[in-house]
Amino acid sequence: MATIEAVGLSKRYGARNALDGLTFAAEPGDVLGLLGPNGAGKTTTIRLLTTILRQTSGTFTVAGIPGERPDQIRQRIGVLPESAGYPARQTGGEYLRYAARLFGRSRRDARTVADRLLDDVGLGDRAGARISTYSRGMKQRLGIARALVNDPAVVFLDEPTLGLDPAGQREILATIGELRRDATVVLSTHTLIEVEQVCTTVLILDRGKLRAAGPIDEIVAGAGSLSDAFLSLTEEAGHD
Ligand SMILES: Nc1ncnc2c1ncn2[C@@H]1O[C@H](COP(=O)(O)OP(=O)(O)O)[C@@H](O)[C@H]1O
Ligand SMILES: [Mg+2]
Repeated sequence: MATIEAVGLSKRYGARNALDGLTFAAEPGDVLGLLGPNGAGKTTTIRLLTTILRQTSGTFTVAGIPGERPDQIRQRIGVLPESAGYPARQTGGEYLRYAARLFGRSRRDARTVADRLLDDVGLGDRAGARISTYSRGMKQRLGIARALVNDPAVVFLDEPTLGLDPAGQREILATIGELRRDATVVLSTHTLIEVEQVCTTVLILDRGKLRAAGPIDEIVAGAGSLSDAFLSLTEEAGHD
């Protein structure tokens, strides 16, 4: 059963089509790369599917739940937004336990989940330190842990490696690679290497339109390389 299904999903701002008729499906275990230059519509896609924005037209389901039921969808997804903020004075552990409590977990259960997730993202030894002492990469990993506290069926990560140095990027990619295999992961990026390293499937967007979709190997086989596919399907320059 598809964990995401979008049909003709569109978002218009005045005369501008931020997203224009996106149709695709994703399955459990897919790591879906949403690839495209700045302004392609990646964040808009994630905001629509996570019910932060309402579409202009089109329909979708996430985790089998129709888009008309945003409260139910929010229970079943995890999100790392494009520019996530964190309470600097809390510790990583406090932050995650609080997030788990918000999803209705008991105090004890919240502690168990928080400890496990902090270990999973490699922050186990910094759980008691204030978030203000974390590097940008550590905050991003905390944000990924935060996106997992409710055992989501679908996890959305919007440019998770943006602004990180190569070592930080590698740590994030390793973390994503180890996410639960039964969840669907949607990862937006404008960096090809991330898609090649962790994604099973790719959607290439440019100026709101879907230019290509399919398993990585098929996209690569068709164009010679992912980079050739990307360059021939997009104008690369960014359109903002
Ligand atoms: N609130 C908004 N008002 C007007 N235009 C917007 C708004 N949000 C996004 N856009 C436009 O929609 C297009 C897609 O944006 P976005 O989804 O953020 O792209 P990406 O995440 O791929 O860089 C861009 O042209 C952007 O300028
Ligand atoms: Mg974006």
